[in-house]
Amino acid sequence: MNQPLDWLVPPARRFEGELRVPGDKSISHRAVMLGSIAAGPTEVTGFLEAGDPRATLRAVRALGIAVDSDGAGSLRIHGAGRDGLKRPTDPLDLGNSGTGLRLLAGLLAGQPFDSTLVGDESLSRRPMRRIAEPLSRMGARVETSPGGTPPLALRGGRRLAGIDHRLEVPSAQVKSCLLLAGLYASGRTRIEEAAPTRDHTERMLAGFGYEVERSRGEVAVAGGGELMGQTVAVPGDLSSAAYFLVGACIAPRGRVRIPGVGVNPTRDGVLRILERMGAEVALENRRDSGGEPVADLVAGASRLRGVEIDGDLAALGIDEIPVLLLAAARAEGVTVLRGAAELRVKESDRLAAMEEGLRRLGVSVAARADGMIVHGRQAPFRAARISSRGDHRIAMTFALAGLGADGPIEVEDCENVATSFPGFPARVRAVGMEVEECR
Ligand code: S3P
Repeated sequence: MNQPLDWLVPPARRFEGELRVPGDKSISHRAVMLGSIAAGPTEVTGFLEAGDPRATLRAVRALGIAVDSDGAGSLRIHGAGRDGLKRPTDPLDLGNSGTGLRLLAGLLAGQPFDSTLVGDESLSRRPMRRIAEPLSRMGARVETSPGGTPPLALRGGRRLAGIDHRLEVPSAQVKSCLLLAGLYASGRTRIEEAAPTRDHTERMLAGFGYEVERSRGEVAVAGGGELMGQTVAVPGDLSSAAYFLVGACIAPRGRVRIPGVGVNPTRDGVLRILERMGAEVALENRRDSGGEPVADLVAGASRLRGVEIDGDLAALGIDEIPVLLLAAARAEGVTVLRGAAELRVKESDRLAAMEEGLRRLGVSVAARADGMIVHGRQAPFRAARISSRGDHRIAMTFALAGLGADGPIEVEDCENVATSFPGFPARVRAVGMEVEECR
């Protein structure tokens, strides 16, 4: 094990410049999985070269798929066709990645061979019954630990049949897991969503030539079809861009431009919430790239106000809620977040992590089982030492607390930022903050 990595962030006022963010994490995972089971080669550009999607890449290689990679975001995946995956010799280790593990479970549930999916300490605590239960109803044999967490053991050679499933908790991972299992099932697999979640799987399946039936609140696939290899240009990750949007909004001298970011309306909650908060954020040059909407984002120093964020809106920006709570701590008035209990079962308990960190900055907060109330602080944040709990999104959020603090911010345990955004400290430096990386 490496020495823990801490960040030391001195107070800063300037956050200005133009930068690119790395490729979208959700789309990178899906490109690798669909490319692997497509007939013929798939070319991917803009693949996120970070821990999570690389874990998925290692997993498909262990399933017999040849992938040429330049290590800088370009992949050529030699798709083996729908029935081309091979039995892995060892458990597949998805590291920190819930998306990798849950989506692969769907892909593997209907294969002729057994497989086992494992993850790191954080992933080994995350709930898997939400996929194990519906996969079992489809006829899969899935075992979790007694607590419903990984490892996940999948028995091969099962005949799957399509089911109707209603998602009680909004989750694109569960939806995608079942759609992927549905490719190997007889009949139709139909998923009903009470609230919309990111639809990258549906869009990409259609892009690979697979028929997907979509209507309001519902998506279905019939098993047995073929996917055709494609080219996939992965857009910049809106979840990574969110740190720079919020940084520009809360910095006294803030202005950033981020070209080529995915702005899919099923995950643009961060943009909608910032707009409600009165943020100066603009989308320029909107275009379509390979079935996904993309834009150049511009944000600048803003007078933010507190807002109410309900569960449906939170679901559209679930990964950006931590950094939005930091923005709320800099806003005038009170922000109330509700219906976001899912944040407690992400890479860490993000509500607890935000509550603790914001308090240390001198912000008045009250946590609820499913949300939080944040009172905007007009005085500068206090110097503080804050634990990221090994969670990449908590670490990046609190690094930005250096903007408008009256002393240094220390963020502990930032190693896992490499799971989604390896170049984060360098980009933060490029727009005017200092981040010292200390081992
Ligand atoms: C993701 C879905 C979300 C999100 C995660 C990526 C995806 O998780 O938090 O970072 O790529 O499908 P849930 O489906 O658990 O909400």
